[in-house]
Amino acid sequence: MKYGYFDDQNREYVITQPETPLPWINYLGCEAYFGIISNTAGGYSFYRDARLRRLTRYRYNNVPFDTGGRYVYLRDDDSKSFWSPSWQPTRHQLSGYSCRHGMGYTTIGSTANGIEAHTRYFVPLGENLELWQLTVTNRRTTRASLSAFSSIEFCLWDAQDDATNFQRNFSTGQVEVEDGVIYHKTEYRERRNHFAYFACSEPLAGFDTQRDAFLGRYRGWDSPTAVAAGQLTNSIAHGWSPIGAHQVKLELEPGETKQIIFVLGYHENPVAEKFDPPNSQIINKKTVKPVIAKYLDPAKADAAFEQLRQYWDSLLGILQVSTPDPHTNRMVNIWNAYQCMATFNMSRSASFYESGIGRGLGFRDSNQDLLGFVHMAPARARERILDLAATQLPTGGAYHQYQPLTKRGNNDIGGGFNDDPHWLIVGVSAYIKETGDWGILDESVQYDNEPGSEKPLYDHLQRSFRHSLERLGPHGLPLIGRADWNDCLNLNCFSDTPGQSFQTTTNKEGKVAESVFIAGLFVLAGRELAALASHRGLTAEAASYLSEVAKMDLVVRKHGWDGEWFLRAYDDFGAKIGSKECEEGKIYIESNGFCVLAGIGLEDGMAAKALDSTRKHLATKHGIVLQQPPYSKYYLNLGEISSYPPGYKENAGIFCHNNPWVIIAETRLGHGDEAHDYYSRINPSAREEIGDLHRCEPYVYAQMIAGKDAPSFGEAKNSWLTGTAAWNYYAIVQWILGIRTTLGGLEIAPVIPKSWPGFTATRVFRGVTYKISIERKGDGNRIALTVDGKAVDGNVVAPYANGRKEVSIHGILS
Ligand code: GLC
Ligand code: GLC
Repeated sequence: MKYGYFDDQNREYVITQPETPLPWINYLGCEAYFGIISNTAGGYSFYRDARLRRLTRYRYNNVPFDTGGRYVYLRDDDSKSFWSPSWQPTRHQLSGYSCRHGMGYTTIGSTANGIEAHTRYFVPLGENLELWQLTVTNRRTTRASLSAFSSIEFCLWDAQDDATNFQRNFSTGQVEVEDGVIYHKTEYRERRNHFAYFACSEPLAGFDTQRDAFLGRYRGWDSPTAVAAGQLTNSIAHGWSPIGAHQVKLELEPGETKQIIFVLGYHENPVAEKFDPPNSQIINKKTVKPVIAKYLDPAKADAAFEQLRQYWDSLLGILQVSTPDPHTNRMVNIWNAYQCMATFNMSRSASFYESGIGRGLGFRDSNQDLLGFVHMAPARARERILDLAATQLPTGGAYHQYQPLTKRGNNDIGGGFNDDPHWLIVGVSAYIKETGDWGILDESVQYDNEPGSEKPLYDHLQRSFRHSLERLGPHGLPLIGRADWNDCLNLNCFSDTPGQSFQTTTNKEGKVAESVFIAGLFVLAGRELAALASHRGLTAEAASYLSEVAKMDLVVRKHGWDGEWFLRAYDDFGAKIGSKECEEGKIYIESNGFCVLAGIGLEDGMAAKALDSTRKHLATKHGIVLQQPPYSKYYLNLGEISSYPPGYKENAGIFCHNNPWVIIAETRLGHGDEAHDYYSRINPSAREEIGDLHRCEPYVYAQMIAGKDAPSFGEAKNSWLTGTAAWNYYAIVQWILGIRTTLGGLEIAPVIPKSWPGFTATRVFRGVTYKISIERKGDGNRIALTVDGKAVDGNVVAPYANGRKEVSIHGILS
């Protein structure tokens, strides 16, 4: 069953029933001020860091589901009935409910009691605030006397502390109300130089800032006592739980529409100018007032919305495709690109499944995310690369995570994930392929954020590669460390104590357990690094990388091959993991996908065999599971992977992040049908019809779909923030459609289904717009190109230096 539909024209997903199987969310903001918003207006906002600068309160895993949000209430002041146009929190029967999730905005509304109301939520570009534009229309034949109420609950900034430290927090809350604007200033008296504000465009009939006064004793957001009474109480919060609520009276003639704008924002003052007058405790509002005034003006609010639209038009305009498959088109042109931007902005910090307090930005995650958004925001990609590299350790190892506010490595998690450093090479290489900005390699970057330790970025890449070389195990394969890409394959952990972190507890020295996956990554990264080295004229160095790659390739064939597929690893006892000799976990996806993707065994049939085995043992109708058979019990020597019940997460779930590795691997063997078939199995748009099973949003990828061994086979979880976004985008665009960035220019190498007559695409690359059309004249993947009508040799179109703005490429596949 479907809960809505795609409106591709407007780049929106329109939800037509509020009771979705799970809250279906969207993101507001794309620079510094962010929010998540569900289809019933649940969610919260924060400035830069979802843990340390959280503006509004949200209750994770609470009942009812999705509690805390940007709630609007309407009250009919004649009949005294009230409701929420976004359904939550009052959950009254509505007609014509719709939620339109678009690019950086969400509009939710409905009609009830003859009153139509919609709220459009978005964050203007360049601002640290969000707008709620509420429009109310009287659809009755008689005059309507209404009250409209806004409401939010302030979070006391540090979301972790907010949810735990009640003995202090119930006494710290402070607000000011001036000219109808509610200022939240908890802790402003001491070390904070920032405050939040909540303003309204219309004259107020009342306000509340103390939660108890608004909700009433023992009542929830579904039935605030002050809304029921039709009169807010002008309460001022002292301690307890500061909120913001406004009341506006509306008199509407039949057919009449009125708009109310609410502005919720974050503002900082210089330390020396916090107070006004200076020796008082009153917030200095000189610089914030003009900002508030600006956005309470409907014309300015509309103009800001138009700007946001144009921003997304131009971002998405960088790559648009038209293929015979509508699901491919929709994901590539709209939603997958959009999701890539969200993963770039959020890493894995804030979603419906990531609480915003748990994790910083992952080193490996952020580098992989680059693959999906570097073409949309190269300058921000550059900044991210330099930030990440600056947290790298002098050994070439990496902190597993860094904190976005401080930009420093996270000591609590530390390092020792031996795949991490290689991803920096992959990320930097993707950046240079997109931009041709070779200068980035000469940027001076610290190690471990230590002043004085600066070296060119290129030095960081050299150390990344050497890090593995200096850490080879008994078979000559890379040592795994705490874990490789699979955070849950913890071969040195040996944890028997509940509550210990599988990622940070290490009980073995780690000199034995090796990873075939890292070996594949080593081969890929080594080739990329060699290409960078030879471009810098370092011929001998490039040759030495290639010779290490060749050695590793041999080691993998010798010690990483199980006869029909690639092994996954060796454990701390030197025993095989992912082998036919194992009782459980005989075959894994990661090493098979990645070794082939990296090019191991392409010539001698090994790669083909590995993919056949993957198909035979791991492929299901909902995607490719991580391994088989699942672990039926906990294995001390394997760690977290065996902590999950069969079919979930890393224990034989369909971990969508690694499916594209197999998709790319299939294209490397020229298998367009197989590649696109795998792609479609996990494509959320193609799964829209099975919404009741899939449960997550049909417009974005989820990290996991339950595997065939789970009772809920086919059910998705952990949507939005996952490496799945970047990898699928990269797989479909660069490997199936074959519009590939290379150091030498744009390569055209499609490996598309046999049944496709072709496709067209527009790609803006290094300042030139390429109009690409591909036409199939035979069954194979051989391509002959004409560029601007002239036949050319090869399939790489070198960048144009002569100011050309548009180039047309025609390719014939045979
Ligand atoms: C999560 C982590 C990612 C890891 C994956 C597999 O998605 O964010 O870093 O590679 O799980 O364990
Ligand atoms: C858990 C998850 C894994 C994730 C890790 C991050 O182990 O299963 O997917 O990568 O947490 O800390």
